[in-house]
Formats: sequence, structure tokens, C-alpha cells
Amino acid sequence: MLIDIIAGARPNFMKIAPIIEALVDVKKKGKYLHYRLVHTGQHYDKLMSDTFFSQLNIPHPDVNLSVGSGSHAAQTANIMIKYEELLLQKPCDLVLVVGDVNSTMACAIVGKKLGIKVAHVEAGIRSFDLSMPEEINRMVTDAISDFFFTTTEGASLNLKNAGIPFEKIFHVGNTMIDTLLKNIPNIKKPSFWDDLQLKEKNYLVTTLHRPNNVDDGFKLSNILKELSNWSKNLPIIFPAHPRTRIKLETQKLPENVILTAPLGYFEFIYLIKNCNAVITDSGGIQEETTVLGVPCITLRENTERPETVDIGTNEIIGTDSKNIRIWLQKLFDENWKQGKIPDKWDGKASRRIVQIITDLYKL
Ligand code: UD1
Repeated sequence: MLIDIIAGARPNFMKIAPIIEALVDVKKKGKYLHYRLVHTGQHYDKLMSDTFFSQLNIPHPDVNLSVGSGSHAAQTANIMIKYEELLLQKPCDLVLVVGDVNSTMACAIVGKKLGIKVAHVEAGIRSFDLSMPEEINRMVTDAISDFFFTTTEGASLNLKNAGIPFEKIFHVGNTMIDTLLKNIPNIKKPSFWDDLQLKEKNYLVTTLHRPNNVDDGFKLSNILKELSNWSKNLPIIFPAHPRTRIKLETQKLPENVILTAPLGYFEFIYLIKNCNAVITDSGGIQEETTVLGVPCITLRENTERPETVDIGTNEIIGTDSKNIRIWLQKLFDENWKQGKIPDKWDGKASRRIVQIITDLYKL
């Protein structure tokens, strides 16, 4: 049996790494289970892609579709055209997609239309906000998948409510957390740590890349000003996504906001594990901070990961920069909630996924 593992953008890489490892393990035990790693090339900068492959020991992709950037339609269409060509030449038995990026949806559609089964890892999460491209990607992918691997019971329930038969839904846990737990011993100081004289629990980290927060330069500037105003002058480390950096090129940053290039996985996890709080609009960072027990302030109107708020350390504060003050004050008053870790975020999700696939296909 040949499984195509699809990866395209940065947050996919930490999700596929442990799945590949689990596949290799069962293959060593004699199961006829092979994989082909397909990188769509949605993210292509060294710092957005290669670094993660080398740090997380992900094998070199068997195929790189090299689609690069483009509008949503152009990027999705390019991935579909190139992936279809590949499948027509060399078909597989199962297309495994992770997360909610354009590559996820594009490859799921192509596989399904060629009559190949599709498995979706991180299925069922919903923000119910259709202004997010990721929500559309999730809904389309889940509408056509055959097997649904979920991170939480809430995500499984969303799928049941959408009419997916329960025997196709598997609550397995979170493969991104498999990678996090495995790599805690490998995390390391970013190169600027000593130069900036950073100290544990004495700085903030921010990451912002959603169009809603960064595409309007004025809005982005207001967020950074509010952060700076209420940060008690702590350094605010800001590893910027390329699209955010472009917006910042023409702006004067507040003095304690320190812009850096995108970081490697080991350096980024070191940074968030040791900071006072993260201020972000990312999806995955809401989960990672919950597991690390670090306060997370999410600059969004909603989340597809409600467990990180209900039982974790995350708060959704909206996108009005005026809200930042209240939440930073709460942080500095040492009044932040203690979180717990969601069920099955235990480092074993990928092994469960591979076990279920071998059972389903009677390998
Ligand atoms: C994508 C995902 C988003 C995820 C994010 C993580 C979709 C719809 N969005 O958003 O869910 O949170 O990745 O980073 O799939 N660029 C580079 N170098 C790169 C990649 C991108 O410079 O290696 C720049 C290009 O100008 C590009 C822009 O970033 O146009 C946006 O990239 P794109 O892949 O379209 O979406 P992201 O914002 O990265």
C-alpha cells in the first residue's frame, strides 16, 4: 500500500514528521506500508521550509511540486494541476493531508476525484468564520474525506453534527504535540538570545501573519504600539512571517519591539517556552502554549481550537488593539489561569493514526 503524505506550508511540517516516523516503524516490523512525501512548494523559503526538514529529520520529499506563491485561486489551481499529473503517472492508495492550508484542500480534491481515498489529520476543527480561508479549506476537505483523525472530542462532534458516520471518525490526539513533546530536549537558544541579554520569563513573543491583522499597515502599527505601551518595557520578540515583514518595511517600530527572521523550530519553541506570554494570531501556537503552560493572548475574533481556551492557557481577545492593555495587565497582575492539557495530547497521536490505517487496510 502506498500513502501520499502531503505537506505544503510551515505548520504542516511539524504535523507530518511524527506520522512519517510511525510509518517507518511499522514498515520495519514487516507491514507492506510505503509512503511518498509530496511537498507542494506552497512555502519555499529556506527559513519557512528547509530548516524544519533538517531539524525534524523529515526525509527529503520524493516529489516537490514547486508551486510557490500566488492568489488563493492561482495557488490552489497550480497545486491541483501538478498533483493530478503526478497521480495520473504514479497513483497511490491513500492521500493523507494534514491541517487546513491551501495544499491540504487542493490535494484532497484531486485525490478524491481520481477515486483515491483521502485521510484528513486534524479534521473537524471549526472557527465557523468563513472569512478565514483556512475555514473554507477545512470544510471542503472534511466534506470529501474518507477517514477523519481528530485532535479533540469537540472536533469529532463537529463532524458528527455534519453527518459524518461515526465509524469514520477517530479521536487520536494531536500530531503537532507529538513533535513538541519529542523535541523538548532539542530546543535551543536563538542566536540573538545572548546579544539581546534575554532572560527567562522576562520578555514577550509575538507572531502575526493573518491578513486581517497585517495587511492593513495602520492596524498592524496600532497593534505593535499597544503591545509596546503596556509591556512594562519588556523586550517583545517578533519573528516575522515574510508577508508581515513586507508590511513593516515602511514602518518605524516601537523601541522594544525586536523584529527577527522566521525562526527554526528548536529556537522558536525555546523562545515561547521561556517567555512571559505569547501574543499571536496563529492556530498552532495556541496549542503549543497550552501544552507548555505559557499564557497565550490570541488576536482573533474566534478560534477553531476552543479547548485551548476552555481548559488551556489561551484567551481570545479580538482584533481591536485597544483590548491588549486589559490582558497584559491581567498577565502582569499574575492573574492568568492555570491550564490543563487536552485528552490524548500525549505524544502518541501519530502512532494511533498509523495503527488505525494498518487495521483499516488489514495490513
Ligand atoms: C499559510 C496558510 C496559513 C498558515 C500559514 C503559516 C493558507 C490559506 N494559509 O499562510 O493557514 O497559518 O501558511 O505560515 O494556506 N511567502 C514567502 N516565502 C514563503 C512562503 C510565502 O515569502 O516561503 C510570502 C509570499 O509573499 C506569499 C505570502 O508569503 O505570497 C503568503 O504565503 P501563502 O502561502 O499564500 O500564505 P501564508 O500567509 O503563509
